[in-house]
Formats: sequence, C-alpha cells, structure tokens
Amino acid sequence: MERLPRIIAHRGSPRTAPENTLASFRQAAAEGAKWVEFDAALTADHRVVVFHDDGLDRTSDGVGLLAETSFDALMALDAGGWYGPAFRGETIPTLEETLELFAALGLGFNMELKADQGREVELASIALPIALDCWSKVHPTPLISSFSRKAVAAAKEVAPQWPRGLLFDRLPEDWTDVGKTLELASLNGNHMHLSREQVMEVRGAGYALAAYTVNEPARAEMLFSWGVDALFTDIPGDMLKILGFL
Ligand code: G3P
Ligand code: MG
Repeated sequence: MERLPRIIAHRGSPRTAPENTLASFRQAAAEGAKWVEFDAALTADHRVVVFHDDGLDRTSDGVGLLAETSFDALMALDAGGWYGPAFRGETIPTLEETLELFAALGLGFNMELKADQGREVELASIALPIALDCWSKVHPTPLISSFSRKAVAAAKEVAPQWPRGLLFDRLPEDWTDVGKTLELASLNGNHMHLSREQVMEVRGAGYALAAYTVNEPARAEMLFSWGVDALFTDIPGDMLKILGFL
C-alpha cells in the first residue's frame, strides 16, 4: 500500500459542513485534506449511498432506518438543513457522485463499509464494483475498511487489488491471525484504547496503523510520536495547520 496520508478528513469536514455530504467533502479539500473517509451503506433496494447512522433522523429530515428505505425516497431527503440553513438542499450522496467529486478534486479516499448484519457480503459485492468502475488507476489507491470481518473478507474477494483495513474499538486478541487471513494493509483503531506498545507491535508486524477520531492536536502529536501512521479527524484544516502539515 502507498503510505497513508497523516491526516484523513473524517466524513469530510463535519465541524464546518454536514458530515458525509458533497459540501463536507468539498470543504475538506478546501482545507487542504488529501484524503477523505466516508461511510458506505445499502438502501432497502440494494443501492449504495454515503451515510453513517442506521437511522435517518440525526443527519437528514427523514425518519426510520436507511436499510428499510428505498433509494428514491432517500434521494428526496434533505441532508443539510439539520446542520444549518446554508446547507439546506444538500442531499445524501450516491457512491458514484462521491467518487466523481473526489476524482475532480484530486482527493484520495477511505471507504468504510457500514454493513447491516446479514448484508456484509452484499454491501461489499455491490459497492466495490461501482468504486472500481468510477476510480481510475491515475488516482491514489484507496483504502477499504470495515468493522465487519465479513465485509473485509468480501472486499478481498471482489477487489483484491485494493488495500484493506480492519476497524476496531479495542485491538482484537487475534489481530495477527486476522491480519494474515484478510491480508490487511492496516489496522484502524479507536485512539482512546490504543497504547504505545500496541502501536509498536502492529507496526512492527508490517501493518499501517490509523487511529480515529482525533480532534486534539496534542493527542495527535502523541499518537504520531508512538508511530501511528494516520489519523481520522473532524477538523482536518486545523489539524493540518497546527501540526505543520500544510
Ligand atoms: O473509519 C474511522 C471511523 O469512521 C470509524 O467509526 O463510527 O466514525 O464510522 P465511525
Ligand atoms: Mg466511518
């Protein structure tokens, strides 16, 4: 895998624009981010959209569950008004339009597969061919990740050429086995439960380590001093500036 960028914009720039929208991705690029992380999820009728939660109500004017809502119904929702009037009219992005925007802006990406239980393989099998189709080799190689081992395993089958990361809250005891089986490029963990020893072990075993979600520059500096490769942050512009990466 090419080296991960130090700073990855988590769902775009969610402190300045509604998360996981094209506005948020544009803002992250304007702030100097080189990569964006976003969440990919399946609609009721098997389409891939960019959305974090199971439920629609926090980040759109919809109600109910994304997985039980049709693509057409989702496209009619407002995904920006909840954040502020300036963003009214922002829609839930499709995977295709997201990747088209990234290509136009020169952004790299980490696609997190947010799979409902039982649909892990389906999500990877639908999302990855779309992404492969939209993303040419001239663009930076992305990272595909998930908390779901089944989704990561399916990504390995469908897009073996794209590096994979396993997300975790606490480093799983069997990480060395899983790393080999899934042929992982990276382990992506919750920074709050990471220790310096774990970072050294993971990196010593040849994996990249990315930590989420780090919004305190002092903590970011400590994690980098431990050897962490990349951080997901809600404040990409500030992090890049304060850490001197711009
Ligand atoms: O991929 C890093 C991070 O996004 C994982 O957690 O809940 O923000 O998707 P979450
Ligand atoms: Mg995510």
